[in-house]
Amino acid sequence: MELLDGQLVSKTIKEELRLKVGQLIVEGKKIPHLAAVLVGNNGASETYVGAKVKACAETGFKSTLVRLEDDISENKLLNVIEDLNNDPDVDGILVQLPLPKHISDEKVINTIHPSKDVDGFHPINVGKMVQNLPTFISATPHGVLLMLEHYKINTKGKHAVVVGRSNIVGRPMSILLSSNTPTGNCTVTICHSHTPNLPEICRQADIIVAALGKPEFVKADMVKDGAVVIDVGITRVPDNSKKSGFALKGDVKFDEVAPRCSYITPVPGGVGPMTIAALMKNTFLACEARNGENLI
Ligand code: GUN
Repeated sequence: MELLDGQLVSKTIKEELRLKVGQLIVEGKKIPHLAAVLVGNNGASETYVGAKVKACAETGFKSTLVRLEDDISENKLLNVIEDLNNDPDVDGILVQLPLPKHISDEKVINTIHPSKDVDGFHPINVGKMVQNLPTFISATPHGVLLMLEHYKINTKGKHAVVVGRSNIVGRPMSILLSSNTPTGNCTVTICHSHTPNLPEICRQADIIVAALGKPEFVKADMVKDGAVVIDVGITRVPDNSKKSGFALKGDVKFDEVAPRCSYITPVPGGVGPMTIAALMKNTFLACEARNGENLI
């Protein structure tokens, strides 16, 4: 069994980007600028946005963090996004999800200009992704592909089972793994809460992507020997032995599943850092497009 070390791969990708930023500076060009919008003070969202801003500093990107109260009106938030759309210095915009209940995710996502939608959530970008056209691929599935690429994991002709059908992870993941690309060409099954024989389907998988958000859902008896297991889940569960009061749990019962696998991602330190690396790559791409290169 080999661990898929997201921390290490992410560091390598950020280092490559840092060198490219250095080149942009030498050429007198604009450097990438990511604007992150955080509404309210959800602990997990604070951590994720903090990690994204830190990654910008590590790669030499400019970042702006826009913090808004959780009772901000939907209209005011949409205006903030419009201002960022119209700011010529901003290349990428991300609005951290989840948003407070009174704000529509859909309206927010649709307001971000597709050319600045580095999360790849806008329907125009999702449509391009489905058609295998150049676009921003949502950071988490993109990060998973970068991980498969880095470890030279052969996906062609494999049976991939994606557990979870969210717009952010499960659905794009299933499309990308089935696409005619070097990290695709899988036969894909997508499972969800209404799948009656889910353990049986998982047992047939060469590659499992667990993205349902249920801690330790995937058990050893759901995994065949030699499978590749990608754990996208990261849930805070109460744990009094920790200073923070919680432990981070993936969707896979790691200790019992790991011995069966050829490769497995740890939680934390697997997919999480790869999501950030992919976001940085998307932001670099957005900046290049604004510099008139690699138009997407
Ligand atoms: N919440 C959970 N994952 C993500 C993500 O990839 N992007 C944003 N904006 N919010 C998230």
